[in-house]
Amino acid sequence: MAFTWILFISTVISHICKGNAAFSYVECKTENVGQYGQESLLECIVKTRRTTDLKMRTVAWKKDGLLEPLLVFHRGRITKALPGYSFADPSWTDTNRNVSLLISNTAVQHQGGYSCDVTTNIGGEEEPSRTSLDVSAKYTVPTIISHPETIAQNTDGTLVCTSDGGYPTGELRWFDEKDEWIKRETKVTETKSGLFNLSSTLTSKQGFKSSKYSCAVFNASGGLQDKVQLNLPNLNGRPEEQGTGERSDSVSRVVAPMVVIGSLIVGLLMLLVYYRRRSLRRRRGAHHEVAVEETDHHDEDRVAEEAEQIA
Ligand SMILES: *[C@@H]1O[C@H](CO)[C@@H](O)[C@H](O)[C@H]1NC(C)=O
Ligand SMILES: *[C@@H]1O[C@H](CO)[C@@H](O)[C@H](O)[C@H]1NC(C)=O
Repeated sequence: MAFTWILFISTVISHICKGNAAFSYVECKTENVGQYGQESLLECIVKTRRTTDLKMRTVAWKKDGLLEPLLVFHRGRITKALPGYSFADPSWTDTNRNVSLLISNTAVQHQGGYSCDVTTNIGGEEEPSRTSLDVSAKYTVPTIISHPETIAQNTDGTLVCTSDGGYPTGELRWFDEKDEWIKRETKVTETKSGLFNLSSTLTSKQGFKSSKYSCAVFNASGGLQDKVQLNLPNLNGRPEEQGTGERSDSVSRVVAPMVVIGSLIVGLLMLLVYYRRRSLRRRRGAHHEVAVEETDHHDEDRVAEEAEQIA
């Protein structure tokens, strides 16, 4: 009988102790995505099933693989904060349950697992809570360069497509005029900052058969990000890069003023011819009519000659 009682009491006590340990617990968003060069938020909130006032005794943020903690709050003050790490709320106090970590300038090395260890006035958990950060950087709009510089249909040459500064590893793909995928290797180069530059080469075997080639950049999850197109002229023209339409824009920007200036010059010349003829007629009286007609012809020829010279 006594033995049964002891067993019962010890079970109750152990239940109470377990419950006590979990009176406050930390809930973290399991996956966070940060944009390269921008702020990243690792969201964690302290929760309790009790209604009592909650006060943080200790908050410690750590990154997997680093011995040194990133951010520590202990005994009423922040005792450690590595550069670039802070509480998400700039006016955070020990009664604020939002213990989220803010990374001010996200870089590739910030990617990975993190732990957040919190002790409150009513206890804490045995194991710290975990969260993680994925870093993402957008690749630049691809550019196509041809070798030789001017390349036409049915001629031999090489097209090189490049797109820079993305993360994680992306892929470049070539397409012909029918939008059919021409499979070529994507060369990946890692930069100092951990971002990737992509490059892919398309070499013609017996002259480029398609009238245009496109190069597209796909991100790590296979999503199309950007596509540019290179037109190969049939004759000995220059290749024209499309996609942004910038080049054809600049052509019309040059052509349009030339048309306007040209019509102005022609109009002015016609006015000049008209006024000279009129003033000549007016200056001479009716009494030299034969002579006037002769000189008039002469003058007209001269003005026409002048006009031709100016034009
Ligand atoms: C925690 O605080 C940050 C910064 O003020 C805020 O962006 C975030 O939404 C907060 N999270 C919650 C769950 O309130
Ligand atoms: C990849 O691109 C798709 C479509 O644009 C987008 O929804 C997705 O978030 C991108 N993924 C990454 C890792 O950037």
